[in-house]
Amino acid sequence: MTAVDERLDPKDLVLRFLASIGRPREAESYLALYRARAAFAIVHASDPVVAGAVDALAADLRLLDELGLRPVLTFGAIDPGGAVARAQAVAARVAHAEVVPAAEVEAVLAAGRLPLVPLSGPAIDARFDALATLAARTGAEKLVFLGRRSGLQPRDGRVVSLVDLARPDDYDPLLATLPARQAALLRQIARLVDRVPHRVTVSVTSPLDLLRELFTVKGAGTLVRRGARVTRYGSWAELDAPRLIALVEDAFGRPLRADFRERAFASAYVADDYRGAAIVTDTALAPYLSKFAVTTVARGEGVGGDLWRVLADEHPRLFWRSRAENPITAWYREQADGLVKRTIDGSAWVVLWRGLEPTEIALAVAICERTPPDFST
Ligand SMILES: CC(C)(COP(=O)(O)OP(=O)(O)OC[C@H]1O[C@@H](n2cnc3c(N)ncnc32)[C@H](O)[C@@H]1OP(=O)(O)O)[C@@H](O)C(=O)NCCC(=O)NCCS
Repeated sequence: MTAVDERLDPKDLVLRFLASIGRPREAESYLALYRARAAFAIVHASDPVVAGAVDALAADLRLLDELGLRPVLTFGAIDPGGAVARAQAVAARVAHAEVVPAAEVEAVLAAGRLPLVPLSGPAIDARFDALATLAARTGAEKLVFLGRRSGLQPRDGRVVSLVDLARPDDYDPLLATLPARQAALLRQIARLVDRVPHRVTVSVTSPLDLLRELFTVKGAGTLVRRGARVTRYGSWAELDAPRLIALVEDAFGRPLRADFRERAFASAYVADDYRGAAIVTDTALAPYLSKFAVTTVARGEGVGGDLWRVLADEHPRLFWRSRAENPITAWYREQADGLVKRTIDGSAWVVLWRGLEPTEIALAVAICERTPPDFST
């Protein structure tokens, strides 16, 4: 083989890089999702990023370009002075880029080029409103604010990984402890999320963490979102059964048995747009959590946590099982009062519970051991 034959295609190189920072399946499913969209993300680069980390930003943009992804890059939402010069500084470092007003974004994207948009307007509200309008018009569901820090960081604290705007006990105390610029940014993000008619998630991160933020479930930085609305159903007839089944099969990556729809449940909790669900069945002992699932594309955004809060509120007594190797088992451990490790059908499982008496554990384990699988493979 010649040296040339051994060279990797740039796209393979990028995919390998993405696999090294997360899980290859995760990176590929995000890639497919982003490629299907005309405007996959709106990215805002703060002044300090352009002034001090423009090389890292340019490297991100080149890698995204190799993958066929072009974000709408914006400037000046926080400090409007010099937004045009900042956009031009980036344009000088990346290929196929054009400095354009917001109105021309779609045409530039359609031509396979990278739009760089300086935002103008005397008031910060007006500039963020322009971002909201841009998101509404292009349908972008992801907005990323790049700063020097990898996320929102309270004074003397660690980076906050998730802010749920639907929970005042999440948002208000955080606002009070953030440095002034970050507090202003969070306030504006909250306004923006309310103004865009479709669902958006907003991340605050740094150029060094941008790819990890875009291509891994865990992300890197702070994710700001409005928590999912969770609806409780009491029977199959009340809900959209094919959608619930599709969601569970997507989440577990396996087909359910044909008779799954005939198995009665006590309650099914479904998050907005069937992005996640928890199914609880009755047993002789206590409510049993039979399924807990979030679609692959919605993972890591907090939908599981939204479901869990409602589930735990309504079920002071609950037990369930999880495969020991499932990464979520560590989190379950935090939510449970206790657990035992068991081998079921030759595989390692854990049985977990909340609110059970010590004398009830043996029955919980026995029920978990004899519950037949719902999947056909
Ligand atoms: C398990 C599952 C429902 C989590 O849904 P999700 O929407 O991604 O979860 P969230 O983003 O709300 O995260 C909830 C918590 O779990 C943690 N978590 C989520 N995915 C994780 C992972 N892969 N590894 C470790 N922790 C993880 C989050 O860090 C978060 O913890 P925190 O509240 O301390 O920050 C989802 O990954 C899934 O459907 N998996 C496949 C099906 C499955 O295995 N279900 C459970 C079988 S019993």
